Amino acid sequence: MKIIAFSNQKGGTGKTTVCVNIAAALVREGERVLVIDLDPQGNATVSVGVHIKPEDLTISEFLLHSARLEDVMVDSYLPDLSVVPSDTVLAHIEVELISKSKSQFFLKKSMENSKDVLNSFDFVFIDCPPSLSLLTVNGLCTSDFVIIPVLCDYLSLEGLSHIIETVDEIKSKLNPSLKILGILPNMIDRRLRITEESISLLRKEFGDKIFRQGISTCSRLREAPSFGKAIFDYATNSVASDDFLKVAREMKRRIK
Ligand SMILES: Nc1ncnc2c1ncn2[C@@H]1O[C@H](COP(=O)(O)OP(=O)(O)OP(=O)(O)O)[C@@H](O)[C@H]1O
Ligand SMILES: [Mg+2]
Repeated sequence: MKIIAFSNQKGGTGKTTVCVNIAAALVREGERVLVIDLDPQGNATVSVGVHIKPEDLTISEFLLHSARLEDVMVDSYLPDLSVVPSDTVLAHIEVELISKSKSQFFLKKSMENSKDVLNSFDFVFIDCPPSLSLLTVNGLCTSDFVIIPVLCDYLSLEGLSHIIETVDEIKSKLNPSLKILGILPNMIDRRLRITEESISLLRKEFGDKIFRQGISTCSRLREAPSFGKAIFDYATNSVASDDFLKVAREMKRRIK
């Protein structure tokens, strides 16, 4: 079992889209995947068709050690894709966590208490919020790897150094086993000069850290979350389904 965080402090780079769709691609390849929604926006939760009620247990109770993984985990629309759901309450829990000691390790501790359930999965994905907040630090302290989705434009490349510095800092101070599995170019539109320029700039600066396969811009990807489905079950023959299958395979090769 490998734990992979999807993180970038910049908003809207495709963290959730990429997390959910790579997870679904892996499920198609016969793997079991758990997605932990660590963002109070709850976007990963609804993207796989899960709608929680106020009385449901969520990531908040799991983080605070008041519920076990098996109590908070729910099935998505796919049998081999489970979710630890999130909602806006998580934003308040984060404030509460700040005053506690070892606040960076609450998620890690919760996970350690649920080793058996975790080991029934091949992959655990953590969808981080768009900030370098305590929640993101908890996600990165728990993970073996991080995937950084990035858009192919100037401002997104500008922000990349912050997340890389954060990962380096967490690796040196809090989680020595954390590795960048790759920087994943998202919303690739080959007709745009900025796409080509951004990708060549990324390859020049980060070399092999950049995924060979990126994700094309695909309007069907914007629509899929409102149907609570990954791209494979919403628009099977879209360009993005092909991209995600290839990215999932590349991800497994990179882990090896
Ligand atoms: N390859 C793509 N083609 C078209 N639209 C995309 C693509 N990737 C993401 N999107 C759309 O861009 C928007 C932002 O994506 P997403 O929510 O996955 O980003 P995020 O990094 O998780 O955002 P946040 O920082 O708010 O958590 C969404 O509307 C999503 O549908
Ligand atoms: Mg998101």
